[in-house]
Amino acid sequence: MRAVVLVGGQGTRLRPLTETLKKELLPLVDRPLLHHTMDRLVRHGVDHVVLSSSYLEASFGPFLEERNGSPVIEWITEPEPLDTGGAILNALDRVGDEAFLAMNGDVITDLDLTELRSFHERSSAAATIALHRVEDARAFGLVSTASDGRVLEFREKPAEAVSGDINAGTYLLDRRAFEGFPAGEPLSIETAVFPALIGSGRAVYGFRSDAYWMDLGTPEKYRRAQFDALDGRMHGLRYEAPYVGPGAHVDPTARLAPHAVIGAGVRVERDAEVAESVVLAGARIGAGARVLDSILGPNAEVGEGASVLESVVGESAQVGAGATIEDARVPPFTEARASD
Ligand code: GDD
Ligand code: MG
Repeated sequence: MRAVVLVGGQGTRLRPLTETLKKELLPLVDRPLLHHTMDRLVRHGVDHVVLSSSYLEASFGPFLEERNGSPVIEWITEPEPLDTGGAILNALDRVGDEAFLAMNGDVITDLDLTELRSFHERSSAAATIALHRVEDARAFGLVSTASDGRVLEFREKPAEAVSGDINAGTYLLDRRAFEGFPAGEPLSIETAVFPALIGSGRAVYGFRSDAYWMDLGTPEKYRRAQFDALDGRMHGLRYEAPYVGPGAHVDPTARLAPHAVIGAGVRVERDAEVAESVVLAGARIGAGARVLDSILGPNAEVGEGASVLESVVGESAQVGAGATIEDARVPPFTEARASD
């Protein structure tokens, strides 16, 4: 089976991390999310994946090298952002004749793709959409289904805070789902393709599961997903908590809470404290500093005695010795000013 993984979004809500890093390449504990996704695809028999983006493409270079052909990855640089449906349509000549998988690359899930595929084959639908239950559907595509699973309506980003099944961002698609749509221009699978299929009476099914699911929408969700992984909530992933990556140095007097992810090569100096936080590769936390409920980008530096509270510090940014920042977003390569 083949798959298209969408990795071309801007990740605006994850700034400043995503100013220098594509969100799909942000680590989930020990390696980029996209590696976890590829491993899952391979486990479920996917041997060929198409990835596409219109920008920051160079940032995928090391990732593509590390995969080393497993699965085979075809890269497409979009001349302009084609949106979700346009990106899939643009990859259609590389997905073969059978039904194929398509997925949002910014979702963390342990969804059973083999089960999704069997469900799709049984229903002979034009499209099968994996579903996830939420209390507030406003950030998602709200999907209503009949009792047999047939999709009655797909409403992207509803205005009201309603609970219900949402589009989990993984689909099994028949290539004919895209018939009649022009290639090479922006097209949304959520607001154009799915509503058109449903409106014309083609069979679209929803697939419910109790799989772990979290989208990488905001810094809070990004942190939450790491701690869920440390707590063993994702099928097939096991970590020590706190997690300390290869080549990291944590002084024996430093205090790490169980919910701490310390990336490769990070230094945590004496008497420092890290809790409910994610520290990306190469960052440094000075003596006596505190990093609580925060994310430090790659190679960020927190000076001696500084406090970083509920903040996101961009790549190679600095928090001066003794400074306190709270609820701050520090752009990459800048120095944080203490918050009042
Ligand atoms: N190649 C390419 N080109 N990829 C894109 C483009 C594009 O122009 N635009 C977005 N993507 C990718 C993003 O990188 C992401 O992996 C995926 O498509 C979805 O885009 P987002 O921008 O993250 O959309 P969203 O999170 O607001 O909503 C989507 O995901 C929800 C689940 O997380 C929708 O599919 C919702 O219906 C869904 O509930
Ligand atoms: Mg998203």
